[in-house]
Order: sequence, then structure tokens, then C-alpha cells
Amino acid sequence: MKEFFAPTLLRWYDQNKRELPWRQTQDPYRIWISEIILQQTRVAQGWAYFLRFIERFPDLQTLALAQEDEVLLLWQGLGYYSRARNLHAAARIICTQHQGHFPTQWEAVRALPGIGEYTASAICSFAYGQPTAVVDGNVYRVLGRLFGVDTPIDSTAGKKKFAQLANSLISQQRPGDYNQAIMDFGATACTPQKPVCQNQRTLCPFAERCQALALNQVDDLPVKTKKTTVKIRYFHYLHLRAEGVSLLYKRIQDDIWRHLYEFPVIESDTLLSEQEMLEHPLVRKWLQSAGKIQPIQHTAMPRHQLSHQHIHATFFEWKIEKIPSEWTSEGNSWVAVPENGPIQYPISRLMETYLAKKQNFQSK
Ligand code: ADE
Repeated sequence: MKEFFAPTLLRWYDQNKRELPWRQTQDPYRIWISEIILQQTRVAQGWAYFLRFIERFPDLQTLALAQEDEVLLLWQGLGYYSRARNLHAAARIICTQHQGHFPTQWEAVRALPGIGEYTASAICSFAYGQPTAVVDGNVYRVLGRLFGVDTPIDSTAGKKKFAQLANSLISQQRPGDYNQAIMDFGATACTPQKPVCQNQRTLCPFAERCQALALNQVDDLPVKTKKTTVKIRYFHYLHLRAEGVSLLYKRIQDDIWRHLYEFPVIESDTLLSEQEMLEHPLVRKWLQSAGKIQPIQHTAMPRHQLSHQHIHATFFEWKIEKIPSEWTSEGNSWVAVPENGPIQYPISRLMETYLAKKQNFQSK
């Protein structure tokens, strides 16, 4: 099977590959951008973002010279914004520490912010033809099934085993195509649910040799020990309106929304009522010089699902008499935006959804 694997996979790829915009280049910059977008985004959604990103930032220098706000604004809607912050930071590092040339050594690529082992291997194989095998969810599934590996993929032993197996299988002649091929095969044929072998066995070139298929274990491989635990969070946003403006601040906490703009927010483990919000000590502090507070309405958003957390957000729209005089909070910068106009700052998906909902409501 080991000798059979790479040539068969490459033959399958030559006949079935998807034509994707980042597959027509060997420019490490473009490949890097595409891989970062595809880390947490599906191909169908990532495609348009990739084209827009490359159009606005065609090379490393342009990206390094841009303002972070602009990079985040272009990323808006894709989520997981640390990817955009890291892209920008890494572009600056490459310009200052690598004379503006994308590094070619795997270790130097891996050392850049936002680049893990998977992405370093993808870039080095696609751009430079280095035989560094990628290991991602697709690879765990394809190799786990074909070779009948039941070591859990989230254990140290499993990670090591799969990495060794992947590196022993990679084509030395066409390492980049091999990596693209295994991802495509996992994404379109050896899929998590209903892989092609289950209704059209002949469409899988490995059907005769697949361990999982022979042992009826296709649905059981690969194995994971832990269930992902999901954290439930309640966000209470204050949509404060005064003197024709709404108030935003730039989030500084070190989380996925860092450096995006949003309404002031109170987070808690439970859902707070409007009354509890009005009496909340932080809210009182923020609004001590705001004069009379007039609640207009509150909007509970549908649950916002991220990979490890579910967010229940409620927006409290309040009219206040005056913009509070103390207009900074713990070093955060606050900005006032026109009440009904478009917002020229990068905002989170949740904020975007809420504002779109409001606008729809108002224009009806
Ligand atoms: N997912 C991650 N990288 C990819 C690539 N290069 N092509 C298609 N899907 C991917």
C-alpha cells in the first residue's frame, strides 16, 4: 500500500482536482494568504476574500505598509480575526528581518506569527517544492481510514504517528501536488459523512486496499479521545445613542476580537435583564455623566456558534442625554459614529448582523 499510495493519489488528483485561484501560482506570498484564509474558512467563501485581499495588497510590502484597521476591515465577515492581525504583523517582520523576502526555510516560515506546522509545510511544498507533508483533519481521516490507524488524533502518540506516516508517504517528485491532492481527496471523496466508497465504491481508487472499508470501520476512523467542550458566554452590548451618534470602542482584550470596534459590552455567565444592566456597577460608572437614560428596545440575537464557544448576545439600545464626559476607559479608545450611516471601522460579525437587522427593520 505504501508504494501504491502516492502515485494513485496523484493520478486521482490529475483527473479530479479543483481549479482554485491559489493553485496557479508559486508565489509564497499568495500561497501564504490563501492558506491563512483557508485555515478556518471553506473554499467557497474564502475564494472571493482571497481575490479581494490580493487585489488590495498585491505583495508583502503593500501589506506591511497598510494600517491594521484597513486589513481588519477587509477581513470583516471572515471571523477569527487573529489571522488578519498575524498576517499584518508577519508582513512587517518579513520586511524588517528578512529584507522583504518571504523566508524559504521551514523553521523560519514556522516562526512567523499565525503559522503552525501545517501552514509551514503547505507553503514550503507549494511554493518551493520541499517534501514537507501537511497534516490536517483531511489527512487524519484519509490516512486513518486507509491504513487503519486507531491511535487517537488528539494524543501526542497519535500526532507523532500520523506525522511520521504522512512524511513517509509524500511524493518526492511532486510534493506540492501530493499535499494538494490529499486535501482534495479528503474534502471531496473521503469525506467525514457519506464518503464515496459507501455508495459508489468504484469512485475510490483505494477501495480494494482500504483497511477501514475492509473492516467496516469507515465511520469509526479516525479516533478522537476528547469531546470538544463548548463554553457558553453571554454578551450584553450597550447600543448607546446620543446627539446623533452611537458609541464604539476598540476592543483590547487578547481574544479573537482584539482590535475590532464594538459597543461597550458586559460579559457574564448568565443572562442579565435590562434592569440588571441598568444597575450594573460598570454601566453606572460609564454612564455617570450621561444624564437621563431612556431604554428604547433590546434585541436578543440568535446563538452565535464558534468552534469552542457559543455566544448569546443581547443588544440594549438606550438613548442617553449627553455623551459621557469621561470618554476613555482603561486606555481604550472610544469613537463616535453617525447613528444611521455606515461604520468605517472593522467590526465583528455579531455587530454586523445586529446593525443589518436594525437597518432592515428601520427601512421597512
Ligand atoms: N484547505 C487548506 N488549504 C487548501 C488548499 N490549498 N486547497 C484547498 N483547500 C485547502
